[in-house]
Amino acid sequence: MDVYGLLGNPVGHSLSPPMHETAYAERDIDARYVTFEPDPADLGDAIDGAEALGIRGLNVTIPFKQDVLDHVEPDDLATRIGAVNTVDFTGPVVTGHNTDAEGARRAFAHHDVTLAGSDAVLVGAGGAGRAVAYMLADEGADVHVVNRTVEKARELADAVGGTGHALDDLPDLVPDADVLVNATSVGMEEDESPVPADLLHGDLAVMDAVYTPLETRLLREAADAGATTIDGAWMLLFQGVAAFERWTDVSAPVDAMNATLRARL
Ligand code: ATR
Repeated sequence: MDVYGLLGNPVGHSLSPPMHETAYAERDIDARYVTFEPDPADLGDAIDGAEALGIRGLNVTIPFKQDVLDHVEPDDLATRIGAVNTVDFTGPVVTGHNTDAEGARRAFAHHDVTLAGSDAVLVGAGGAGRAVAYMLADEGADVHVVNRTVEKARELADAVGGTGHALDDLPDLVPDADVLVNATSVGMEEDESPVPADLLHGDLAVMDAVYTPLETRLLREAADAGATTIDGAWMLLFQGVAAFERWTDVSAPVDAMNATLRARL
């Protein structure tokens, strides 16, 4: 039996175990996906121990996504983003990858949204925002990073060749945009949106990284404005799909994984 897992602290309510175990069942793979909560001081030992035990892959979440870079061979994208969410033990060296970026890319592709040449407004410059910003730039979008703390927006924008803005600039950016991504936590705790409703329009594709709740105020108002909406479960799904395919070299049962995920959200 193969073992995969999630490294985080805490990892209590993760949806990754049922999502991945659905994929193993669908594809007749004899494997389990388990969660681990090492003490942050023991991260290096945890990675080495996983390798020694023959664990084939680990997803990595808070608070380890940055620190794990020091314990694996990160690929180019993970190095640029500065975070690893997927560790692969199946090759000759232990490698680190960022399938959050891949997840966002595939979520847009699944909805037939063309990113190349698009005008993209990304709200949020934290961990999720960084992954999305590099993905958008790599796909050839014109990236405008907007953040409450404008210095972080400018820094990330400089790194990806885009422009950095404060939230006040949204009225100058959103009316002409093709793509809008919320990578802030706004909408999670309260029924609030980071983007005023009157700026939304029917030519937008709007993705929200928030998945609790699935229907955020931003997505509700975007749908009312006639926009294409992509909820946070799609990004979560496709980061898992990308990790599964990297580890197993088997094409993922996307519909079954999606059903499992949505049944639990
Ligand atoms: P994650 O890993 O989910 O991206 P994070 O790295 O803590 O989490 O980033 C949170 C993001 O949400 C940041 O862009 C943050 O803005 P700041 O950089 O100014 O802190 C943004 N954010 C959180 N609460 C917000 C609020 N009430 N209004 C606007 N932006 C908010």
